[in-house]
Amino acid sequence: MSGFPNVRLRRLRRTGVLRELVRETELRSSDLIYPLFVSETEAGRSAIPSMPGVERLSVAELAREAALAWEEGIRAVLLFGIPAERDETASAAVAADGVVQTAVRELKGSLPDLVVITDVCLCEYTSHGHCGLVHEGEVVNDPTLELLAAQAVSHAAAGADIVAPSDMMDGRVGAVRSALDEAGFEATVILSYAVKYASAFYGPFRDAVDSAPRFGDRRGYQMDPGNVLEALREAALDVEEGADILMVKPALPYLDVLCRVKEAIGTPMAAYHVSGEYAMLQAAAERGWIDGDAAMLEAALAIRRAGADLVITYGARTLARRLV
Ligand code: PBG
Repeated sequence: MSGFPNVRLRRLRRTGVLRELVRETELRSSDLIYPLFVSETEAGRSAIPSMPGVERLSVAELAREAALAWEEGIRAVLLFGIPAERDETASAAVAADGVVQTAVRELKGSLPDLVVITDVCLCEYTSHGHCGLVHEGEVVNDPTLELLAAQAVSHAAAGADIVAPSDMMDGRVGAVRSALDEAGFEATVILSYAVKYASAFYGPFRDAVDSAPRFGDRRGYQMDPGNVLEALREAALDVEEGADILMVKPALPYLDVLCRVKEAIGTPMAAYHVSGEYAMLQAAAERGWIDGDAAMLEAALAIRRAGADLVITYGARTLARRLV
């Protein structure tokens, strides 16, 4: 016995090639989903001050942005629409010539292999900013389901490969699945925002699409940040209702949840590194307090390690340029 350690974990950390040889988690550009904001009233591009580097895009600029992302190795985008008009019943959400429907047709025309995912939710389309229909000050569940199902069908009809319900109404995945099947879209995938917390980290997103609720908040439908057993129930229900991929959102503050859902359910998982998470990194980087790109890469890798197959991030292009 020499008194020195036999086991030296540093042996495998000595060089870059050794580290790569034993690395447990990989991040590839094809693991990334790039969220994009498409606006009906936008002539070109406009900056979103609380999300440096992210812009609201016209349909034409959206197609240009998606083409650049595709060139860099990104294979999937997630679309959010900003309509010209909002009303009590979110009519613009289901219009065949709505901004998202138009954008999907445009993208599938110019980049047929790009996986186009659409956010299915009413908050960008309602005058009150809630994710469902409101009756006497309450967000009503069941009447909202029909509208969400119609919205999903209109996205699928435009050519969306994946629809992603983010409203957190009970039973929406089942409602969307049957409506899609009835309309002949059995092959349209459902990526459910199964585990979505009522989070303070969505602030910049709500600036971007002007969707902050005009009264009250979303705690009556989004999850309480203290709960994880409830996350397992939400996830199990969505799988039963026909979800193909599940999402946990936000990402970094909820890696434990992601890990537990992945282990318990085993479906492909996505995690959304949301606007507030992105904004924090950008703000610190702008002040020179952290290396923004390195922090973004580390965040995305950590999200993968915790159990996400797919990472939804506004930094997708920045990351893709550093990956393969
Ligand atoms: C719509 C929706 C929101 C986000 C994604 N879909 C906002 C919300 O629930 O208020 C947030 C995404 C982000 O913060 O990047 N319901």
